Amino acid sequence: MSGKKLIVGNWKMNLTVQGASLYVHKLEKKIKTHRDVEVVLAPGMLALQSLGLQVNRRQFKLAAQNLYWKDEGAYTGEVSAYQLNGLVEYAIIGHSERRHIFHEHDKDTRGKVQAAIRHDITPILCVGETAHEKAAHETHAVLHDQIVGGLANITADEVNGMVIAYEPVWAIGTGNNATPVDVEKAAQTIRDQIAHLYGAKVSKSVRVLYGGSVSSHNAASYLTTPGIDGLLVGGASLNAEEFSVMVELAHTFNETKNLARKAA
Ligand code: 13P
Repeated sequence: MSGKKLIVGNWKMNLTVQGASLYVHKLEKKIKTHRDVEVVLAPGMLALQSLGLQVNRRQFKLAAQNLYWKDEGAYTGEVSAYQLNGLVEYAIIGHSERRHIFHEHDKDTRGKVQAAIRHDITPILCVGETAHEKAAHETHAVLHDQIVGGLANITADEVNGMVIAYEPVWAIGTGNNATPVDVEKAAQTIRDQIAHLYGAKVSKSVRVLYGGSVSSHNAASYLTTPGIDGLLVGGASLNAEEFSVMVELAHTFNETKNLARKAA
């Protein structure tokens, strides 16, 4: 956990290159730069280069929504971590849409996490259970398996400082957001698992996000959930008003917490 909040907007397969640029112009005006909040935009692959030239990296960092683990070669349609190096600071890996629509398994996410780290890109590894698994009380086991599977062969040094997003599949794009109590439990499971594999120090260094139907109306409850360092926002990140409110909330909560700490 770090004091800084991390707010990531996953635009998924939305906006053209021009549309992305116009949208960032809007965000630039609306979102203030705060030292205690890191704002990351994950546009479609095509817009990464132009946005890389457009954005002020102190205001916005960029993330890829996916990458391929081989550096180069005959892999039609793929974009590698090697090619993304320098263009993005983060990459979303193992998103549930990759797992469920494109049939990615832990073996794929593991290769991608390793490739990202190899090319100086911080992975945002997504984990989360389906509705079916939740009903069967398997959340704990699913998180455990996805973390063990997604991080196998990765060293403590490499895991240090990486990001793990708890995104229950049933909460994504449904308006059915998880309760802060469930999110707190999931964050604890994630950290316990990392501590078990890599020790307490590494576990504390990992940033854990919540994602799944986050909006300006429910963001505050996750920003104050113990063990949660920020948000991974889908639909609402495409609305400049919504997204900017979340960034301001993150700053306000951090400031209040710091003031309370100083006063104590
Ligand atoms: P929504 O915020 O649209 O539910 O999407 C969440 C998500 O998948 C972010 O990666």
